[in-house]
Amino acid sequence: MQTIYYDLRDIRGQQKEVEEKVRAAAKILREGGLVALPTETVYGLGANGLDPNAVNRIFEAKGRPQDNPLILHITGAQWLPRFCQDIPPMAYTLARKFWPGPLTMILKRKANVPDETTAKLDTVAVRCPNHPVALAIIREAGVPVAAPSANTSGRPSCTSAADVLEDMGGKIEAVVDGGSCSVGVESTILDLTCQPPRLLRPGGLPLEALEQVVGTVAVDKAVTRALQMDEVARAPGMKYRHYAPKAPVTVVTGSPDASAREILRRAGEGAGVICFDEYAHLFDGRRVQTLGSSFDKQAQAQRVFAALRTFDECDVTEIYAQCPDNQGLGLAVSNRLKKAAGFHVIEADAARVVLGITGGTGAGKTSALDAIRDLGGTVIDCDAVYHEMLTGSAALRDAISQCFPGAFEADGTLNRKKLGEEVFGQKERLAQLNEIIFRLLVPEVERMVAEGGDGLYAIDAINLLECGLDRLCDRTVAVTAPVELRVRRIMARDGITEQYARLRISAQKTDEFYRSRCDYELNNIAELPEQFRQEARLFFGRLIETIRQEKCRENN
Ligand code: TXA
Ligand code: MG
Repeated sequence: MQTIYYDLRDIRGQQKEVEEKVRAAAKILREGGLVALPTETVYGLGANGLDPNAVNRIFEAKGRPQDNPLILHITGAQWLPRFCQDIPPMAYTLARKFWPGPLTMILKRKANVPDETTAKLDTVAVRCPNHPVALAIIREAGVPVAAPSANTSGRPSCTSAADVLEDMGGKIEAVVDGGSCSVGVESTILDLTCQPPRLLRPGGLPLEALEQVVGTVAVDKAVTRALQMDEVARAPGMKYRHYAPKAPVTVVTGSPDASAREILRRAGEGAGVICFDEYAHLFDGRRVQTLGSSFDKQAQAQRVFAALRTFDECDVTEIYAQCPDNQGLGLAVSNRLKKAAGFHVIEADAARVVLGITGGTGAGKTSALDAIRDLGGTVIDCDAVYHEMLTGSAALRDAISQCFPGAFEADGTLNRKKLGEEVFGQKERLAQLNEIIFRLLVPEVERMVAEGGDGLYAIDAINLLECGLDRLCDRTVAVTAPVELRVRRIMARDGITEQYARLRISAQKTDEFYRSRCDYELNNIAELPEQFRQEARLFFGRLIETIRQEKCRENN
């Protein structure tokens, strides 16, 4: 069969031409044919929902199990009484508020809706799509249009006409191109035949928006986890493995920083990665599909299916996906990703705790870090990392040489004295050097934590906050102590004069600086380091426990 392509991306153009195409598509529908239609959520594969033969052809074209009912697409709430009965007033309230839009309501059906459409259920799904082209075609056809998503059954849904042609080309009469879908995930399905109404599928209309109108909404268990063999799916479609690329998918939840680190640690050479824009650079050399910014759930919804479909075609061995939290559209995006993964989900940060430890000389950072080691933690000494990078990192050496010509000797060693003389006393030059170090140090430390895997880490840096290393930390802790104590301690420790000890302390940031910027302060007034180390051990032990509990709650 030749699939006709109607381009209706620009409907402000030639009115006559637009009307002709709308009429032609509507005619195919009325005559029992299949037409793929654009909607704001995903493309639908439409047929006359009152024509059992036409509806059967949808199941054939998609390879869809017969027991999975279809949604009737209508032009507004005025059509509800034609196909539904016992309609609760709430249905009209919701329609007024959210139609046309990404909300599907489950209502009691009337007998004129064929069993083929409802898979013999006594309810029917109805929705009014928010797309001018779909609405014009349905209106012109004069019949409710039964339309599942236009993908081959089991594949990710189609959000462009090109996707539809890939799956349905040659199998259906026509595809109407209305541009790419603005929402990108399917409609939210709400069952209004029970009390309280039940969310069967999260989608383009956030649960929070529904709750504002409906009050309490029960969330079906199929939304957040795989159903057991003996559990009945209230939306039959929720029981099937879905949206799944060929390679196995693992979804990684948790804060974006943590999930990126976890993926970096796990993803092998041949792996594909679906990640937020901010983290794409971490996966250079691997196949990457970006979802948009971690803050932009609308973009994530628009792109999630395209990302999954792209991986369907390439030969990656496994796929890792970063996952947004469940707020707003995040619930729908994470549901689609998790379904693609067969609910194979890893919680990135429950098992890893990263603390940032900072503070001036003589306050007791060393003992605090010993306490972390006592608790089995790994300490990352950023000063040592920097010095290692001076020999090991070409990027750092190049950046320094460019900004400070002659900083490196001919034999490749750094002329510390020369560099020191240039930056000390010249604020601007020091800022330039710091900018270079901070820019390259943060990703290096990030990599070290990522490659280290689960467990407890402490990032030890006097410049923790200025560097931006605090971004990698679950919590930051300032180690502080009264100046007089610090003077005595460093005199004893380093064998220097009181005057020199005071000079060194005054060259550093004050305790107030650290105190006001860190999450916690650990004030060290202990006489002996061993005493403070014990106190710190208790403090960190409790803090780590709190963080772990918090993470488990967030991810569940
Ligand atoms: O955004 C959407 O809803 C898109 C566009 C094309 O409108 N359509 C869509 O249809 O996603 P489909 O067939 O891919 O998903 C419909 C879901 C299935 O999970 C199906 O089981 C469920 O709705 N469903 C349909 N009728 C139902 C009913 N009477 N009771 C419970 N669930 C129903
Ligand atoms: Mg579907």
